Amino acid sequence: MTRYILALDQGTTSSRAIVFDQQGQIRFTAQKEFPQHFPQPGWVEHDPRDLWSTQIGVAQEAISGAGLRASDLAAIGITNQRETVLVWDRATGEPIHRAIVWQDRRTASLCDALRTQGHEGLIREKTGLLLDAYFSGTKIAWMLDAVPGARDRAERGELACGTVDTWLVWQLTGGELHVTDTSNASRTLLLNIHTGDWDDDLLALLRVPRALLPQVRPSSEVYGETAPGLLGARVKIAGIAGDQQAATFGQVCLHRGMAKNTYGTGCFMLMNTADEVVTSQNRLLSTVAWQRGEARTYALEGSVFVAGAVVQWLRDGLGLIRDAAEVEALATSVPDSGGVFFVPAFVGLGAPYWDPYARGTVVGLTRGSTKAHLARAALDSVAFQAADLLDAMERDSGVRLSDLRVDGGASRNNLLMQVQADLLGVTVTRPKVTETTALGAAFLAGLAVGYWQDEAELEALWQVDCQFEPGLDPAEREQRLVRWRRAVERSRAWAEE
Ligand code: G3P
Repeated sequence: MTRYILALDQGTTSSRAIVFDQQGQIRFTAQKEFPQHFPQPGWVEHDPRDLWSTQIGVAQEAISGAGLRASDLAAIGITNQRETVLVWDRATGEPIHRAIVWQDRRTASLCDALRTQGHEGLIREKTGLLLDAYFSGTKIAWMLDAVPGARDRAERGELACGTVDTWLVWQLTGGELHVTDTSNASRTLLLNIHTGDWDDDLLALLRVPRALLPQVRPSSEVYGETAPGLLGARVKIAGIAGDQQAATFGQVCLHRGMAKNTYGTGCFMLMNTADEVVTSQNRLLSTVAWQRGEARTYALEGSVFVAGAVVQWLRDGLGLIRDAAEVEALATSVPDSGGVFFVPAFVGLGAPYWDPYARGTVVGLTRGSTKAHLARAALDSVAFQAADLLDAMERDSGVRLSDLRVDGGASRNNLLMQVQADLLGVTVTRPKVTETTALGAAFLAGLAVGYWQDEAELEALWQVDCQFEPGLDPAEREQRLVRWRRAVERSRAWAEE
């Protein structure tokens, strides 16, 4: 009997479910957006019930859309927006607060205080991360303090906490399993990435009770099965990874020095560093890429908070375009941005700047600037941010990349990919399947159940769609990067005043 793998990809703005076949080809995709909540400037929340209802809805749609029944599935793999965190009641399953999203800046001052007290060194050494509101730990502490009675209930073991993978597995198993995988756990500020377990010093520092936390498991194994009645047949849940780590796996960046960049809401560049935790000298993160059995693979990561979201903003915030796909035509209608630089620091800046107080900035406007120039500058900004990451990554790893693998929605924008190759000065390679986040989750699940035998089999499935070669004169590239960095300086520390 032919069988398939279902990947659930719970992202920042939509939930997706994709059915893959044994060739790693997509059989059906279902997707649904859900509401974003912005209760205060810099705050971003999701209703956990929306995350679950859209995710299970698209899962059912994908199974039936592919003409399948749940019994045709060999396994389910889960991948998810990372760092976003929620707390719920173990008895009722009711969340005590909306999920606080990775983009949310509400704990920036708490991070400042911890830094002033001199804790950043310990955090960096144990977690590979920096002290930033991006990560889950301070968000959990905030919820326990803000919701009356929550801290006491957490201490008594009445509450459960988790990143989105944990919430989905809890729901899929009818509350039977409270687990996460090492890649997701490595984004919380609470996991010691050298041991792969929650760390008592970090739990004490961030005031998070251990009783709240899920069990940390590898990224590829059979964790359990879906609850009876949920999908029509019980299906093995066999893979879990944070979306960026899953995309790295889906791009089969399985060897030291291989790197990918995913263009989603944000933009995340990860380089495989094999079994070595490489400590960045350039404010990148060290993170767990995935764990198979006892073996953990690590990565260096550069995280940019706003990439695809800048196009959404041109559409929803400014009304410059009606559809995100229109941006390529608009931006191509001018030869360049006409000297306009756009720093989309809507929620501060991530790597390598880490400035939660930076805000969006447009410089270089003249009387001749048009909406096309702004659209072009917006696309350029995605490529400039990635160029900053690659620069830092090459300096940290000592690896000079010859080729960067790209994926995610905006990787289908040919103009952006050409600009990216020009600004990086390296070949940009786009695979045939650009849904590599979901593919990576499918690969992890499929390996666990023997659907695929080994990593070599996965490497053979990966195929190139298109390569973009750098065409810009190096001196001009340097000049543009210098101007970009001047624009970045103008965006910084704005919200502090
Ligand atoms: O760290 C945040 C990241 O996991 C979100 O990914 O694809 O929703 O932008 P995405």
